[in-house]
Amino acid sequence: MGQLNLLLIGPPGSGKGTQAVRICERYSVPMISTGDILRAAVKAGSPLGRRVQAIMAAGGLVGDDLMIDLVRDRLAQPDAAAGFILDGFPRTINQARVLDDMLPGRPLLAIVLVVPAAELERRLDARRVCSQCKTLYTTGTLYGGSEEELCSKCGATLLRRDDDNLETIRARLQTYRDTSDPIIRHYQDRSSMAVIDGSQSPDQVSAAIIQAIDKSRPNDQ
Ligand code: AP5
Repeated sequence: MGQLNLLLIGPPGSGKGTQAVRICERYSVPMISTGDILRAAVKAGSPLGRRVQAIMAAGGLVGDDLMIDLVRDRLAQPDAAAGFILDGFPRTINQARVLDDMLPGRPLLAIVLVVPAAELERRLDARRVCSQCKTLYTTGTLYGGSEEELCSKCGATLLRRDDDNLETIRARLQTYRDTSDPIIRHYQDRSSMAVIDGSQSPDQVSAAIIQAIDKSRPNDQ
């Protein structure tokens, strides 16, 4: 079977993490979320965590050298040899170019999720994450709604991410606007890319991603 080397690109709140969990289960490849790796480092108080905490809290981007080393090490692990889903990388044109060099001859499929800015703000403001099993929720009556602030899967407390306050949400959205165009052009020019309406229901978005994957690997269906 051909490899699945999938990049999930999109603004904060577009559903990259939601979809990465679903798609990695379906295709049995590891999900590599640079945001999750950084948040775990911050939580652990490691040297990496101490370096990136303030940048993340301000909604900026961690430096390319650090991120590239981190992803290079992760992709060198055996479980990524047969494919992966990258959620949150690349985020700069430099990261995109270096990723190409890291994976010579391995075809990349870039999925770009597009969602209106007002919907992104609304989702991030309402997002809660289970402190134990990391399941994502949207408070209130939105998708996956939970009024209790307790995880319906494991019963643990739901938390708001440190960068999900309105000021940082707006800074993160601006960072994406400032950096994403060259990345999208990079994949338009060099490899296969699919642009997907991320404002559909999660199931509809998953179906569109699966269709794009299967189209990119026609002999594997
Ligand atoms: P990261 O963790 O990657 O955050 P992000 O890009 O801001 O994306 P989010 O995780 O906020 O959103 P998402 O698109 O995954 O949406 P989700 O599925 O959760 O990065 C955090 C920080 O780390 C960055 O700001 C930066 O500082 C640093 N960083 C990370 N990578 C870096 C890199 N490569 N270089 C430099 N710095 C880096 O969904 C959001 C909500 O919406 C959820 O509540 C969910 O339930 C809901 N939802 C999802 N899909 C739908 C749908 N279809 N309909 C309705 N609701 C939905």
